[in-house]
Amino acid sequence: MTGRIRYGGDYNPEQWPSEVWDEDVRLMVQAGVNLVTVGVFSWAQLEPAERTYSFAWLHEVLDLLGDAGIGVDLATPTASPPPWLSARYPDVLPVDARGARYSHGSRQHFCVCSASYRARARRVVERLVSEVANHPAIEMWHVHNEYGCHVPYCYCDNHAQAFRAWLQRRYGSVDELNEAWGTTFWSQRYGEFAEVLPPRLTPTFVNPGQELDYKRFSNDAFLEEFFEERQILRTARPDIPVTTNFMGFFKPLDYFAWASELDVVSTDNYADPADPDAMMLSAMHYDLVRSLNKDAAWMVMEQTPLRVNWRRHNSPKVPGQMRAMSYQAVARGAAGVLFFQWRASRSGAEKFHSAMVSHSGVASPVWAEVAGLGRELDGLGTLEGSGVDARVAMVFSWANWWALEAPAKPANDLSMTDQLSWMYRPLFGRGATVDFCRPDERLDRYEVVLVPSLYLVTEEDGAKLVSYVERGGTAVVSFWSGIVDERDVVYLGPYGGPLRPLIGCDVVDVAPLPEGMTIEVEWEDGTRTGASFWADVATEGTGHVLARVASGPWAGRPAVVEARVGQGRAYYLACRLDAAGLARVYDLAPALSGEPAVHRAGPGVERVVRTSADHTYEFLINHSEEERVLDIASGGFELLAGKQLGSRVALAPMDVAIVRRDRAGPGD
Ligand code: GLA
Repeated sequence: MTGRIRYGGDYNPEQWPSEVWDEDVRLMVQAGVNLVTVGVFSWAQLEPAERTYSFAWLHEVLDLLGDAGIGVDLATPTASPPPWLSARYPDVLPVDARGARYSHGSRQHFCVCSASYRARARRVVERLVSEVANHPAIEMWHVHNEYGCHVPYCYCDNHAQAFRAWLQRRYGSVDELNEAWGTTFWSQRYGEFAEVLPPRLTPTFVNPGQELDYKRFSNDAFLEEFFEERQILRTARPDIPVTTNFMGFFKPLDYFAWASELDVVSTDNYADPADPDAMMLSAMHYDLVRSLNKDAAWMVMEQTPLRVNWRRHNSPKVPGQMRAMSYQAVARGAAGVLFFQWRASRSGAEKFHSAMVSHSGVASPVWAEVAGLGRELDGLGTLEGSGVDARVAMVFSWANWWALEAPAKPANDLSMTDQLSWMYRPLFGRGATVDFCRPDERLDRYEVVLVPSLYLVTEEDGAKLVSYVERGGTAVVSFWSGIVDERDVVYLGPYGGPLRPLIGCDVVDVAPLPEGMTIEVEWEDGTRTGASFWADVATEGTGHVLARVASGPWAGRPAVVEARVGQGRAYYLACRLDAAGLARVYDLAPALSGEPAVHRAGPGVERVVRTSADHTYEFLINHSEEERVLDIASGGFELLAGKQLGSRVALAPMDVAIVRRDRAGPGD
């Protein structure tokens, strides 16, 4: 995606009489809107009865937008089938684990393994393509909408059959499947694939291998449907990029696998403004999405201008916060920032979700913010060719997330996203940017690799991580890493499996700490910090013990261990260190130390640097409600205010500065 930063939102003109469309386009132009997503939920409008089509309205809308120079991200309507489809073909409706069938009347009520659904989804996409694919306003294809959002798992007979075929391909024989799932346990041995079921309602824990494979299979089933739609779109217009909108850290889908199939990666971000961690979580969300396909552009497909309507209590973004959060995305590399939705609906389940144009039209302060930001972004074409160069990587995989959070573990409250935020939070505070990487990715370009609870790791991927360190890299590995292989089968011996060389001590058992309990950790210089949640029961190994547990039942045992491995080193964290403890570890690696001016300015300042061949663009965003002053010795040219800076920059609450500097020297 090149050129202007894309700006706009979901546009649902079918909800309005056509008289409103002219005003929509006039206001879009006023607000600097240059891309709108059309048709996401239009199946019932496009095909009101089976094989009866109505495309005149869509032609008219595309013409109006095209004439005004507004690009269209044209969606396939398959995320919300029309009532006639499930009324005629009941197997289109998904089934939950207890065997209850969903009904239509909402959205996402489809079983992705239903042949009836698949055939009609293909047909409507083919029809869409034959009607409008050559329209000049179309800039991007938006396949479906938030795959898996409401019904990530279906347990119907169609799924059972497809699951068995998937298992047969994966394991070849039922003996291999029995071996992988450890079915000697609880008399679960299968005699033939036909006996295998989706993990439907069972008296207690389902076989963890079965559960893990069902997650893999369900991800693949959605992907297969996506491929069918993409094929139709690409055949018609191979020149138009394809996207589908993700939801950041959405557990059911392996977005690494998806992103490599997309031309543009896009995401929907609804971080809760009432959550004190929202800005950190949102930064982490964007770092993830940017990293999913490191060769593709990415953008925010949806965010809300003010508030959502689906939480118990829907706190709004405070004035200025929508702008600050939009720049957060741009800072982290986004090529576009769009909203859900353009005009607030009068009816339906989302009528109180805020929109770019509110129920009160341009009288709402939201309009001034929306239009102001659109015009401002229009002037930022100078960011062209710049991207984010992270020096720190965080290893993350969906298979690990699925296995880590499967039930029947020492700590069933161990959450992947908690582990990620624990290790990410200090970096956000220090102004250091992170790339997320699959365990099998090449890590050489990173100075430090963080490994939060990589419970599931294959022998091969573990060896790659070890070799990264051997060749001079630095790794920080947390507890509960290297525990099982890809089948969820435990590596015997002290825990760590293929990661053992990075652990430096012998983890002979693990001990989750009682809720609310904190223990002390004593460092070599006698300083004490705290830890909670977890303590490994470790004995000394080949590494150097930097800190020991100093209170509680595991006093004296290693808490932080440094292992020298080849040319590099690894730090192993045997418990969940508090902020002060983690800071001590991070201070050992220059790439983790961040930007001192950001530390000194006080909390809430986010810093990200985008780099191009000629320039650096330092984004400074004040998410706090107080003024923050940063001492920026190297000066620079501030793009938003259009002025040369001295040695300091003062940021009002929610304000943003983008400081451009020549790469050869200070500001130009
Ligand atoms: C999701 C959907 C949109 C809308 C918004 C509301 O992101 O894609 O259609 O429902 O949520 O927040």
